Amino acid sequence: MRILLASSEVHPYSKTGGLADMVACLGKALNRLGHDITILTPLHRGIADAYRDLKRVTPDLMIPLGHRRVPAELWSRQVAVGERVLFVGQPEYFDRPALYTQNGSDYPDNAERFVFFSKAVAAVALAEVPGFDVVHVHDWQTALVPMLMKHERERAGRGNGTRTCMTIHNLAYQGVFPATAFGLTGLPPGWFNLDTVEFYGHFSALKAGITAADLITTVSPRYAREITTQEFGCGLDGLLRCRQSVLHGILNGVDYEEWTTSRNPYLAADYGLEHLEGKTANKLALQKELGLEIAPDQPLFGSVTRLVEQKGVDLMLGALEEMIDDRMQFALLGSGDPGYEQQFKDLTARYPGKVAVRIGYDNRLAHRIEAASDFYLMPSRFEPCGLNQLYSLRYGAIPIVRAVGGLDDSVVDINESEARANGIKFCEPTVAALAHGIRKALALHEVPELMSHYRHNGMSADFSCQGTAQHYLKLYTPSTRLSKI
Ligand code: ADP
Ligand code: GLC
Repeated sequence: MRILLASSEVHPYSKTGGLADMVACLGKALNRLGHDITILTPLHRGIADAYRDLKRVTPDLMIPLGHRRVPAELWSRQVAVGERVLFVGQPEYFDRPALYTQNGSDYPDNAERFVFFSKAVAAVALAEVPGFDVVHVHDWQTALVPMLMKHERERAGRGNGTRTCMTIHNLAYQGVFPATAFGLTGLPPGWFNLDTVEFYGHFSALKAGITAADLITTVSPRYAREITTQEFGCGLDGLLRCRQSVLHGILNGVDYEEWTTSRNPYLAADYGLEHLEGKTANKLALQKELGLEIAPDQPLFGSVTRLVEQKGVDLMLGALEEMIDDRMQFALLGSGDPGYEQQFKDLTARYPGKVAVRIGYDNRLAHRIEAASDFYLMPSRFEPCGLNQLYSLRYGAIPIVRAVGGLDDSVVDINESEARANGIKFCEPTVAALAHGIRKALALHEVPELMSHYRHNGMSADFSCQGTAQHYLKLYTPSTRLSKI
């Protein structure tokens, strides 16, 4: 199959979260399964300097945007036989210090930036010869593409040779803008209505995708069910219930060539199921690096996260206040809400040697925290999939998670199956419930045989992206009927 994936961020070129990892990993896995892959993504600042092998594709596209026509440069990078990344360059929109925000607020022209990018994606998708079998877009930034393609085909009286698929990575981010932004799309004014893109008088990019895509997926089976409920539906649950026949939940996978504990250049020592002493070496190295007390026997709890409400950061802060004492240590890498950042800094100041916090973004340190930690905290209020608990399982950091979304689908608590237990789960989004989970972890740490049973189950679990890619392939194939979510 010829498959086009479009995303506003793709690892290793640009990343703010799991979206970048998932798209890169899916593209690679689909290619390894023998398919021809094109990934389309913006040429964000720094990419052209870091990758000197980009080749300019001529001529530039001219994208009509409201009353303007804006040029889009195309740059290509061949990453494997049958896999290329196409970067859409437009310095006015993408040569910026960050992907979506400035000083904690969204860029005011985000509608324009991503309508432009979506139109460039649709233009590439429609112009390509031979055509693509599937155009698979991700999140609100590219959600307009299926509708743009539909419109163009109707206008040109062309048949529907390409299937469109849209993945919702996080329903909380919908790309909702003032109604005037709809004018940028060039779609007929009559298409601005309740059945298409209108959301309480505004223009919703995500809603456009939900109504126009042939297939809708999200990143875990449980989240696919959750988003059809009022509690998790963010105002779109009614529409999603109407589209339930094409809505599927497919758990994300991991690129185990990147997220590996053997021959990983970021780690202090190799380790694996058969030689766990390397994990202790990583713990000692991290304790030294972050200024924690050197204490190999003390349970170390880790977290690498965006510091936002979704991640249950308030619960983490509350539970740590209650639990942090001589029996445990905590290491965090994260950035986000300045209020949360300050609270973590305060915690470090009060518990030097026990709590270490690094504010910022650092992929290498993310690996080192996973490798050093005995336990990993992920008390999310909601979690479409979550990749960090999957990385933790492989790295032998036993996850302590709230039983929601993909966390519930990937972590097994001892109460579900003693034989398969690989983590600790709790249900209520409260400080008390998380603190109880931490207490259970401390008790578990006292029983080495049980610790190694959990670790063994986690480290040997297979959440590889190959499996995820195979699910998507079945879905892309028109004749296949998948069992429902
Ligand atoms: P989300 O996409 O909602 O943030 P995921 O668990 O799916 O959550 O993915 C988060 C990804 O971003 C992981 O690869 C994680 O390691 C990475 N990440 C998050 N914060 C940081 C940070 N401050 N530094 C480095 N990597 C980070
Ligand atoms: C979103 C979700 C996260 C998911 C990631 C990749 O950022 O918040 O749960 O793992 O997308 O799909």
